[in-house]
Amino acid sequence: MEETHRGRTALVTGAARGIGRAVAEGLARRGARVAVMDLRLADAAAAAAAIGRNAIAVAGDVADWESFRAAHAAAAAALGAFDILVNNAGISPKRDGARVPAAEMDPAEWRRVVDVNLTGCFHGVRLVAPGMIAGGGGAVVSVSSVAGKHYSSIVGVHYAATKAAIIGLTRHLAGELGPHGIRVNAIAPGRIESPMIHTVGADVNAAALAATPLGRLGTAADCADAVAYLTSDAASFVTGVTLDVAGGLSMT
Ligand SMILES: NC(=O)c1ccc[n+]([C@@H]2O[C@H](COP(=O)([O-])OP(=O)(O)OC[C@H]3O[C@@H](n4cnc5c(N)ncnc54)[C@H](O)[C@@H]3O)[C@@H](O)[C@H]2O)c1
Repeated sequence: MEETHRGRTALVTGAARGIGRAVAEGLARRGARVAVMDLRLADAAAAAAAIGRNAIAVAGDVADWESFRAAHAAAAAALGAFDILVNNAGISPKRDGARVPAAEMDPAEWRRVVDVNLTGCFHGVRLVAPGMIAGGGGAVVSVSSVAGKHYSSIVGVHYAATKAAIIGLTRHLAGELGPHGIRVNAIAPGRIESPMIHTVGADVNAAALAATPLGRLGTAADCADAVAYLTSDAASFVTGVTLDVAGGLSMT
């Protein structure tokens, strides 16, 4: 594989498994040195060990400013300032395999989803942007969802609202950070084969498959390839976009 990311350093949140892990692997295979950040150190360490010598593990909660700050400091001490940030960590709580209706939702659950899915992205940018500005540029990719663009009966209101907000955050930050050479984009995955999608019934995933023109569920590797593109020089004039990685499930 071409070493398009040689000499770059990347911080990927929620990278112990699923899409985040594939993103970290994809960047490392292209030559980047990668910090695998996740809630639990043992899981992050196992992922980093599997990725190989270009990866280190750090534990941290993106929702908690002090925790994320400590994780970022540890990662930066090992790898130096980051050129790339991938805000991937996200949660989509369910009850008995289905979304919790807004009319029954515990406000504490709402707050946790906002804190992880949205505030976590702000925390990430707040931490890496000073180094990117000092270094003359960088690339940020946040993981939104097709559920942030269209109504989805699968997810809760907290999830839909945070994934829509990531699209606005991406546009705003692209404008604000563009003059510093920092590109800010997002991806909007459709139904991606990962542990997260098995929190609902098989019928839900079968319906998503039937609605996907390309005739398959996505893979974490599909998302990793999109992130690799958006963080590469091939995308040097691309900023402020949210790229669907959805097989045509959601076309806007
Ligand atoms: N799987 C899909 O179909 C799909 C579709 C659209 C969007 N997404 C988004 O992609 C991202 C990754 O999803 P996935 O399917 O790989 O999920 P996943 O549940 O398999 O993995 C998420 C990872 O994030 C970590 N994490 C959760 N909360 C965290 C926190 N507060 N701080 C640090 N790490 C945390 C988890 O420990 C886990 O390792 C999420 O933002 C999700 O909303 C997924």
